[in-house]
Amino acid sequence: MQTEEEKQEVKEPEAEAPAVYIDQLGKYDGQRVRVRGWLMHHRDQKKLQFIVLRDGTGSVQAVAFKGDFTPEKWETFAGLTQETSLTITGTVRKDDRAPGGYEISASDIDVFQLAASDFPIQPKEHTVGYLMEHRHLWLRSNRQRAVLRIRAEVVKAARDYLDNNGFVLVDTPILTPAACEGTSTLFETDYFGTPAYLAQSGQLYNEADIAAFGRVYSFGPTFRAEKSKTRRHLMEFWMIEPEAAWMELPGLLELEEGFITYIVQTVLENRRAELEVLERDLSKLEDIKAPFPRITYDEAVKILQSSGLDVKWGDDFGGDEETVLASQSNRPLFITNYPTEIKAFYMQPDPERPETVLAADLIAPEGYGEICGGSQRIHDPELMAKRIEEHDLPLEAFAWYLELRKYGSVPHSGFGMGIERLVAWISGVPHLRETIPFPRMLDKIYP
Ligand code: 4AD
Ligand code: MG
Repeated sequence: MQTEEEKQEVKEPEAEAPAVYIDQLGKYDGQRVRVRGWLMHHRDQKKLQFIVLRDGTGSVQAVAFKGDFTPEKWETFAGLTQETSLTITGTVRKDDRAPGGYEISASDIDVFQLAASDFPIQPKEHTVGYLMEHRHLWLRSNRQRAVLRIRAEVVKAARDYLDNNGFVLVDTPILTPAACEGTSTLFETDYFGTPAYLAQSGQLYNEADIAAFGRVYSFGPTFRAEKSKTRRHLMEFWMIEPEAAWMELPGLLELEEGFITYIVQTVLENRRAELEVLERDLSKLEDIKAPFPRITYDEAVKILQSSGLDVKWGDDFGGDEETVLASQSNRPLFITNYPTEIKAFYMQPDPERPETVLAADLIAPEGYGEICGGSQRIHDPELMAKRIEEHDLPLEAFAWYLELRKYGSVPHSGFGMGIERLVAWISGVPHLRETIPFPRMLDKIYP
């Protein structure tokens, strides 16, 4: 039989606090919550503990007072290591000085795993080589998270723009029987006894898809065995490629301008905090609005020659030339009408100047180089057959592509944008390797 006093001591078990994400803390001001994440910093002041926790949506500081914990629980705080995975329970308090605007007054802590004490990335200078070796852990740092969040925003904005403007996403294959962008940069693989290649571009398939859907785009990984070790080249990169029936070069330039403007302005609106982490000069991005300046290849050659560069008509432009040309303007620059000789087999010659093609490269400002490459495509079956032959491409592998010109051929155009190039420019990070979670580079396929 319980006495009256004993009965009163039986407490209802306290309901478990809801687990919430750090970016949602504002909805729980004054309430008890659980926050689960990884420990970024820990300051032990004997009677007071400060823990900064990261959960992927943000970070928050939790403060614990010794008086609120049993001695056994308080012991947990001793020896907490960076990257320990843990849950903190506590009350959300508004604090204008805190980075996310809130703090947690902790009432409980549960360690899920005490991280090994030798986390390789410390708040000090490491070489990039070292950081790349530890890319799988480096991703957790503020800067890398900011860049990759911007990447996700770029992808979403790019897709939203096309989805909302009548383009249909139609996927293209990765294993392909032939080259799209010239044979020199193909990754070959064995397809049950016949050679196959990793796709350099989805374009040729997009050209088939437009006769079904009018306007399409593909978005996927593309592969280039480029033996170049520059800050602008990856072996594996993600490309978004719109293609539209009935579109000619002027329409293509308008599409690209609208597309790039929308992406840049959307990132500015939705990822300002990340751009600030990266100390990006926002005024440079605010100015990115259509229309973009346009020059022809002929004019570009003259500009380069008068800047003292050793360039003659017929040369392809490299990074240095692109940087000089782009410095003419704060906005991306279109260069049109390249010599036929230096461009891909499928590009439509300009009827007014057939030694040049109806192509455009879009060059980013601030030295980021070419972000989009596009053109009007040859729609005439005879001319296309001739080009395939001139470029020594295997006719059998291109038979289907030629057939597209036999059944209702129409003028059409498209372009490809490398996601990493755009992210590098928008984020202001100089090297493409930081713009993709796990870069594939000339000397590196680890991790
Ligand atoms: O200019 P590219 O080679 O064009 C094509 O592949 C066309 N078939 C696209 C099309 O018209 N549908 O490549 C397009 C873009 C470049 O402007 C650049 O942004 C990116 O792809 N790119 C690379 N990005 C990273 N690393 C590389 N090695 C890249 N090569 C091209
Ligand atoms: Mg190109």
